[in-house]
Amino acid sequence: MFGMRETASSRVVFRFHSQSCINMSKSFFINVNGRSLQVSEDTSVAAAMIMAGQPCRRSVSGEPRSPLCGMGICLECRATVNGEPHLRTCQLLCVPNMEVVTE
Ligand code: FES
Repeated sequence: MFGMRETASSRVVFRFHSQSCINMSKSFFINVNGRSLQVSEDTSVAAAMIMAGQPCRRSVSGEPRSPLCGMGICLECRATVNGEPHLRTCQLLCVPNMEVVTE
């Protein structure tokens, strides 16, 4: 399945694995910039931010930035998670009631 979300400042294109859309038996809610989002237990925080249509941060010139490498190298996915700033969200799995705040 293929989907796209747009916000006022960014366009995020993402793909779903069809099985992960169906297998939501172990799902819970997290908060991304104050918005509640249902995710499955194997969802990375970076993927959750994409699902929420939220860029991770802004570049110096104000461009929205989102995960690039997905393996902890590029640092484009940094966000504040449960009050801890600058975490590489592609390396974190969601847990219930997690609070994610982007720049
Ligand atoms: S996406 Fe590159 S470090 Fe997370």
